[in-house]
Amino acid sequence: MEIILGRCYGINKKEIDDIISQIEKEESVFKKSALDPLMPPGTIMGRKKQTEQLVRYLVGHKNGYVVPYISIYGRSGSGKSSLAKFVCSNVPGISYVLVNLRKAKTVFGAANLILAELGVPGLQNAQGINLAIDSVQKEIISMLRKQGKRLFVLVLDELDAIFYDKRGKPSDFVYKLVVLAEKMREQGLLLCIIGISNNVLSEYGLDDRVRSRIGSSEIFFEPYSKSDILGILKERSQEAFSSKINPKVLEYCADMSSSEHGDARRAIDLLRVSAEIAISRKEPLGISHLEMAQEELQKDRVERTLANASYHMRLVCGGLARVSYLDGGQWYSTSVLYKQYCSVLQKGTRQLGYRRISEMLTDLENTGLVISQTGSKGRNGYGTLYKLVVPPEVVGNLVSKEWWDGIVAAKTAHESAQNKAFGSGAGLSSSRKGLFGDLVKTLEQNSKEEWKRYVGL
Ligand SMILES: Nc1ncnc2c1ncn2[C@@H]1O[C@H](COP(=O)(O)OP(=O)(O)OP(=O)(O)O)[C@@H](O)[C@H]1O
Ligand SMILES: [Mg+2]
Repeated sequence: MEIILGRCYGINKKEIDDIISQIEKEESVFKKSALDPLMPPGTIMGRKKQTEQLVRYLVGHKNGYVVPYISIYGRSGSGKSSLAKFVCSNVPGISYVLVNLRKAKTVFGAANLILAELGVPGLQNAQGINLAIDSVQKEIISMLRKQGKRLFVLVLDELDAIFYDKRGKPSDFVYKLVVLAEKMREQGLLLCIIGISNNVLSEYGLDDRVRSRIGSSEIFFEPYSKSDILGILKERSQEAFSSKINPKVLEYCADMSSSEHGDARRAIDLLRVSAEIAISRKEPLGISHLEMAQEELQKDRVERTLANASYHMRLVCGGLARVSYLDGGQWYSTSVLYKQYCSVLQKGTRQLGYRRISEMLTDLENTGLVISQTGSKGRNGYGTLYKLVVPPEVVGNLVSKEWWDGIVAAKTAHESAQNKAFGSGAGLSSSRKGLFGDLVKTLEQNSKEEWKRYVGL
């Protein structure tokens, strides 16, 4: 038997120099870092209404009053963090910190993150939340006195994270921070808390005493429209590409992004990955590269979401993929999806409640795997409907290949039985069609009903 051995090349300094000069050549036509969504934008495009609302709330400090709490909410990538940071650093006379609570698993963890951002060492759990809040107060007051300012803005980004810590009483934590704002006013200083979340605050089950204190200073960030995204992409691409790129490419990218999600971060990512694909193929950036990039990003997103998902979240994804595949990918209500979740749950496993699954669907929307809309549920009134935006096969296979193979086999068997029994006139002659027509129709109807029951609709 002949064995062909691969050649083994030695790497010398020249090889490294060649790689570097190749990278430099690529960078001279495409500056990747300009399409890094983590890079804060130099200019905030659009969002005039939200900017004005936020500035109006904050400049009140000149007259000695600001609302104690502002809630900023909206879907992922709608510009909430960028705008809050931009406004806070440009409104004169205020001191602020922005604390991202994503990493806080508990309410106490959140308090420690705030302390860390204020430059104070964290506390031990046993020292209690009250002591943590006292430290926050002391530090804010000393910062304001040092800087000779009157208003401190505490931006709590990704506040959603603390509402999963039911034992840590998140509602109580928000209450204590708002009371802190009241206490500071007694000392002639102002504190405004800006809470940023994906959902409107009322969905997080705050108790009444908190609600009445925080008032209703809310700023909603709707998903970006096509023209908003186009503006953001144009601004970024001026810096990213050395030569002018085909305006149709940007238009198409904005169109794809706005119709699917309205998320600026994902639109920028899509453009970056498309440019990388075009460069690797030594082709000018075109629409086909956007489509290739879209497919690559979708697959990555599903893999990432499922890798980080809990067991129950994987089942919710699996249930949605199952019903979408078997039924042809429509919009599904929370109750249909809850039924799917229950049906794929292994016997003997603890079943989560309807409300938790509904929260998971909202989380899923923020990962970009599903989109939602408020639709009519017939006699049951209005409700949220969800739709998978990636091919169900991709999700199903990643949840469990063996389980998914069974679903594919069931659909194939159903379709072939349908074709044999009722397809193209079911092989009946026209006279027999007349005689048996009604019977065939009834059987077909029964079979459809049975299939619907199997699918879980
Ligand atoms: N109005 C805008 N102008 C320019 N760039 C923007 C704008 N909005 C968003 N971006 C870009 O999109 C990225 C994501 O925006 P941002 O982080 O502000 O979204 P977000 O609403 O806070 O999302 P999440 O809920 O996921 O935290 C930003 O880093 C920025 O590059
Ligand atoms: Mg954010």
